[in-house]
Amino acid sequence: MRKIVFTNDKGGVGKTTTVANLAVGLSTQGVKTLVVDMDPQADVSFALLAQRPPEAGGGYLPPTIYALLTGHYQMDQVILPVPRYPSLSLVPANADLADAALKISRRPTRLRRLLQDLPDGLFDVVLIDTGKGLDPLAVNALAGADEGVVMVAPGRLELDAIARMQEHVSLVRDEVLLQSDVPAIRGILLTLADPFSVTKDTRMRIRERYPGLLLETVIPKNNDLQKAIGRARSIFEVAPESKGARAYQQLITELGL
Ligand SMILES: Nc1ncnc2c1ncn2[C@@H]1O[C@H](COP(=O)(O)OP(=O)(O)O)[C@@H](O)[C@H]1O
Ligand SMILES: [Mg+2]
Repeated sequence: MRKIVFTNDKGGVGKTTTVANLAVGLSTQGVKTLVVDMDPQADVSFALLAQRPPEAGGGYLPPTIYALLTGHYQMDQVILPVPRYPSLSLVPANADLADAALKISRRPTRLRRLLQDLPDGLFDVVLIDTGKGLDPLAVNALAGADEGVVMVAPGRLELDAIARMQEHVSLVRDEVLLQSDVPAIRGILLTLADPFSVTKDTRMRIRERYPGLLLETVIPKNNDLQKAIGRARSIFEVAPESKGARAYQQLITELGL
């Protein structure tokens, strides 16, 4: 079972868009996929379910990742099959997750253990979506995965962002998982890329500073991608011939999923 976290401590760099599209793409190809939503904004839960899980006080409360992390539930009580897509399941989030940060600050490997306890063969791939910052949620998300894909949108500060994420990953590897060889950075993914502007320079700079890490796949800035996620649909359904759909298919292949 591959466990991949999509990370950058900033918002708006296409993490959720990438997780949602990969998940739908993989599951429709028969890959048994689990998405874990580790962002209190719950954007990927919305993208896959087309509705936001209710928050505390909102009547009947189906268990979410909050319940799992804070210890009241087991994994099989929280995993939700996503009705629209075969082979796709979700551990949903809602805004309550923000409160979990404090409670799990001393349990940085909680998610990792929960994922390790999943029965063999239940899932082929776990995709973890993260929010902003390096809080205990992000630490749990990083420690839960074996591989990290660092998401980068071209701009002046992209090299700093990569350096920061590399530091976060090393920190989790050395201080949390103690002398582990995971998580390892599987690749740097350039997204929201405008083919007419800085992308070429950016690629060169990243390749120079991080040899071997930049993925060949570039996710273009593509209106169809934005439209699809806004309608809680994947690009493969909304515009299967678009550049965005081709790019995400290429990413599936390049990651060997
Ligand atoms: N490749 C893309 N082309 C155009 N718009 C995109 C693309 N990727 C993401 N977006 C849009 O950018 C915004 C932020 O993307 P999102 O995936 O939510 O980022 P993050 O999860 O890192 O905060 C969203 O409005 C989304 O629709
Ligand atoms: Mg997001």
